[in-house]
Amino acid sequence: MDPLTQLFEAALAAQSAAYAPYSKFPVGAAVMTASGAIFSGCNVENAAYPNGICAETAAIAAMAIAGERRITDIAVVGGGALAITPCGACRQRLMEFAAAGAQVHLLGRSGVHETVRLTELLPRAFGPGDLTGSAGE
Ligand code: THU
Repeated sequence: MDPLTQLFEAALAAQSAAYAPYSKFPVGAAVMTASGAIFSGCNVENAAYPNGICAETAAIAAMAIAGERRITDIAVVGGGALAITPCGACRQRLMEFAAAGAQVHLLGRSGVHETVRLTELLPRAFGPGDLTGSAGE
């Protein structure tokens, strides 16, 4: 299986592990790093609705635990018929670790619906480089 297909399979497998009893909208995400490793995550909700975590956030945490820091590709699959894009907060979280040109693969029912660059989803992002030279350094 080629690496991107593995990434998509990982996102789909993660979606089936989602804990989304409140929204009933299971999401799966997977990130591929510069080393070729793949880390996946699902959304995990709880009774205090706003406190749940997104699939992308879970995937990033799994990556960080493994000591990886550079994301080249992201795949996300939502709980509805249409492909979804990562929420605003997750775009920022992904941007923190994104390699130049990092791509986001939006999965639909029958494979990749669309592939966009993360910078298209979060143009002119505030990032780690903006802190350089700040008064706090
Ligand atoms: N959700 C994600 O996990 N990722 C996204 O990109 C969009 C939304 C989750 C949050 C919540 O558990 C459910 O989907 C409905 O918003």
